[in-house]
Amino acid sequence: MSYVLFNDQITKREHVNIDMEDRGYNFGDGIYEVIPIYEGNTFAMEEHLQRFLESASKLEIKLPYDKTVLEQQLNELKIKNKVINGIIYIQMTRGVSPRAHLYERNVEGLITGFCREMAFPTEQKLAGVSVLLTEDIRWLRCDIKSINLLGNIMAKRKATDNDCHEAIMHRNGILTEGSSSNLFIVKGKQLQTHPPTNLILNGITRQIVIKLAKENGFTVNEEAFSMQQLLEADEAFITSTTQEITPITKIIGDINATFPVGTITKELQHAFKAFIDKETK
Ligand SMILES: Cc1ncc(COP(=O)(O)O)c(C=O)c1O
Repeated sequence: MSYVLFNDQITKREHVNIDMEDRGYNFGDGIYEVIPIYEGNTFAMEEHLQRFLESASKLEIKLPYDKTVLEQQLNELKIKNKVINGIIYIQMTRGVSPRAHLYERNVEGLITGFCREMAFPTEQKLAGVSVLLTEDIRWLRCDIKSINLLGNIMAKRKATDNDCHEAIMHRNGILTEGSSSNLFIVKGKQLQTHPPTNLILNGITRQIVIKLAKENGFTVNEEAFSMQQLLEADEAFITSTTQEITPITKIIGDINATFPVGTITKELQHAFKAFIDKETK
């Protein structure tokens, strides 16, 4: 991680100097994105940057420069760090101002970013993972990719403490999503996942999986589902940029269930891999 993005400059990490009254530091007042890199090429950069702009606009955080410059800088960051398979992380806080709850609208956002190698989880994609089902304690604007992730990180800790890979969450028995992933169930030839409302992050992987599923002859029902429906599902999986499509084989916590690594999940994994190969060649 030798070169990083600091505002509009690519610089060495040791040259980054952030004020202690940055609102990201004081309030978790900021947004982020994670963009994957496959074989030296970014994947779905446009979609990620679009969501970044949408998060910024929902929180009235002012971009210090435009999207084309940002895209150029992120590509430059990738090249300078010589990353072949990995991720770009980019974050923008509301910037620096004397600590006060009230934010001013004239302050420019502060951008930082890094790029590093990351192994995509081959073993988990084949064998599946255990998840902990727990209450969703987050705020009501989960559609914003905010750096303020307390509800998510508490859930992740709880999952790990229970030997689970991920926490999946529910509000009063209605499933929402994972602590860092979206959730799908499969019943017959139909996929079901929570609609993209304020209660979930509309994952880029989620959107791609929905598109690929439809192209491959499955129906996709974007309607919230209950714990009972989860129990009755044939297959279940989570999706995210870093976990791609990962089968769920066991659920513990508020319900207990087991699932096979299902044939439809596997078919979607193949379609997803083929799509990445096509888009990044
Ligand atoms: C809460 C939450 N939901 C869903 C996702 C999946 O989003 P994406 O597919 O864009 O990585 C993430 C990714 O970090 C997340 O944090």
